[in-house]
Amino acid sequence: MEALVVAKGLKKYFPVRRTISEVVLMKSRLYVRAVDGVSLEIGFGETLALVGESGSGKTTTGRMLIGLEKPTEGSILFEGIELTKLSKKALRKIRPRIQMIFQDPYASLDPRVKVGDQVAQPLIVHGLCNADEARERALEILERVGLTPSTEIYERYPHQLSGGQRQRVVIARAMITRPRFVVADEPVSMIDVSLRASILELLKEFKRERNLSTLFITHDLAVAKLVADRVAVMYLGKIVEEGAVEEVIYNPLHPYTKALISSVPTIGIRVLEKLKIVGEIPNPINIPPGCRFHTRCPFAMDKCKSYEAPWIYVSERHGVSCWLYSAE
Ligand SMILES: Nc1ncnc2c1ncn2[C@@H]1O[C@H](COP(=O)(O)OP(=O)(O)OP(=O)(O)O)[C@@H](O)[C@H]1O
Ligand SMILES: [Mg+2]
Repeated sequence: MEALVVAKGLKKYFPVRRTISEVVLMKSRLYVRAVDGVSLEIGFGETLALVGESGSGKTTTGRMLIGLEKPTEGSILFEGIELTKLSKKALRKIRPRIQMIFQDPYASLDPRVKVGDQVAQPLIVHGLCNADEARERALEILERVGLTPSTEIYERYPHQLSGGQRQRVVIARAMITRPRFVVADEPVSMIDVSLRASILELLKEFKRERNLSTLFITHDLAVAKLVADRVAVMYLGKIVEEGAVEEVIYNPLHPYTKALISSVPTIGIRVLEKLKIVGEIPNPINIPPGCRFHTRCPFAMDKCKSYEAPWIYVSERHGVSCWLYSAE
């Protein structure tokens, strides 16, 4: 098996609700093309960062990969098993091995339940052990994520913890079932800047200790640089560039990637050509024809307006979808 997770041609189209008059006039239904043909692979013990502006389809991609959202089209292999074809029951069996960490630790915790019980809960829900063992393992993992003394933390409620501590609880809860694959969706964006590095370090430790594979969603390339092995850049439902993180950050090819990097002063690199893109990301109901970035691209040529750019590998593992790199 070459990778733990292999997704091919993933699409997610959300139907837009029609008004009564649109239905009466038989106007055809419109779709939000949130994800519009994404293929990616995540190796064993590998962290792939998925970066891109708000609305590019990162969360929807992550939700499909863990089976929370059914793809409109495409295939997802996890440990060689086709996730999109599994029944609810079969999916529930796999669930402990696939977990998600969300952006807002407060919203992901139940305010009325002791944090320790919430950490233990996945073990009980999936019938992996009895209540006493679950409590023991919850105490162990609380300790492991740095929430000590764990016996004291166990008894607290979410509002009695700081934002950073809450996100550690969420991570503990995700890790307690020993998942092979985790989707972390902007896990530090709502956490105080001073605490971010230690949370990212904790995720890296789990990766090292458990050979954990991660899809790490972020709009912040500086964060991607800290945690990821590879990075995929997403624009309006598609991946436009992908490669080893250092390679993409120090040698960006797609004008969109260049613009993203130019906008991150903290990344500490000199971008040779400072590139600013204008305008907002277009509405995913009306995706521009041709290369979907052409409406904002300073290098757009005629063919970019009509033809989608092919995927071109510039080195063994660094690929880009842009006419600037095509010999055609
Ligand atoms: N359930 C839904 N119904 C309709 N449209 C949706 C739904 N979920 C997401 N979308 C739309 O799909 C597009 C992609 O959304 P998504 O949340 O995946 O983007 P994102 O890259 O995660 O953005 P952000 O950085 O803001 O979190 C957006 O235009 C969003 O409004
Ligand atoms: Mg999102």
